[in-house]
Amino acid sequence: TTSFRSPSITGDHMDEILGGRRLRRNRRTDWSRRLVRENTLTVDDLIWPVFVMEGTNVREPVPSMPGVERLSVDLVVREAERAMRLAIPMLAIFPNTDPELRDATGTEALNDQNLVCRACRAIRAEGLNIGLMTDVALDPYTSHGHDGIMSGESILNDETVEQLCRQALIQAGAGSDVIGPSDMMDGRVGALRQALDQNGFRDTQILAYSAKYASGFYGPFRDAVGTNATLIGDKRTYQMDPANTDEAIREAEMDIAEGADMIMVKPGLPYLDIIRRLKDTFQVPTFAYQVSGEYAMVEAAAANGWIDGERVMMESLMAFKRAGADGILTYYAPRVAEVLARGR
Ligand code: PBG
Repeated sequence: TTSFRSPSITGDHMDEILGGRRLRRNRRTDWSRRLVRENTLTVDDLIWPVFVMEGTNVREPVPSMPGVERLSVDLVVREAERAMRLAIPMLAIFPNTDPELRDATGTEALNDQNLVCRACRAIRAEGLNIGLMTDVALDPYTSHGHDGIMSGESILNDETVEQLCRQALIQAGAGSDVIGPSDMMDGRVGALRQALDQNGFRDTQILAYSAKYASGFYGPFRDAVGTNATLIGDKRTYQMDPANTDEAIREAEMDIAEGADMIMVKPGLPYLDIIRRLKDTFQVPTFAYQVSGEYAMVEAAAANGWIDGERVMMESLMAFKRAGADGILTYYAPRVAEVLARGR
């Protein structure tokens, strides 16, 4: 048997080891922790994604996203008022299109009376001074659930971009302030910028989903917009490979050169390294999308009593700030805003 010299750590001995450096000093009191805090989360960091559906005074829970509902246009207007009261800067509007209106080329995306356009107009008609962002991609409108126009097995790039430009013009005409191309076609940002400028929408901003990965974390969103059942194959020929990081730099570089005002990384928490790299490389407004699957995981664990849901919600959003994000699209936006307003 080996015998050890039992260690005796006296205060003096530890001072010698630490040379007087004790990092716990700053953590001892609440006021001190607040004083030395490096990052803050405020309501100004939030973008709130909402789902709109047909009908009047209708709300429908999204089963895989507890606490999130699809809302008819009139109720989306109520939520926009709530967002205003909470001082949330912007809403992102996604449609659950009637399956009957979906076709191979996403024709309904070009209908200026589609759900997204009606929601934008209704919010604008109330005179609410809140940012409106709309998604540019065809998936909520196509029968095959892809973001672009399909030919055989493949998604056509240039034909899709042409369609996306028309979609964006219709959205801008309905009052969308920020166009969010989430389709990952090559050249779409430049084409959108040109189309917007040539049609009198010089002030319409573009928030490019620059680094959007082919991710399993989008499942519950596809439930919410009703594309899960219909999606043929997967999106790996246009969304990015989760194994790549240099490629995110090239995507962002192109989007910025083509005229993106802001860029985004999606999903969020599993891709914090990408947010940090893009922010360090480009110094442009950079956003994170805490996507549906991330939300669902937190909610599921919280519902089981396995984690403290509110605490993890706040911690996850702070993680985005720490990684360098200027803001976060999150289904938690109204709940976070309420917690922040309570002053915690
Ligand atoms: C579609 C789009 C998706 C999301 C936002 N826009 C899904 C997809 O690419 O399949 C996902 C958002 C989320 O999961 O919360 N272009």
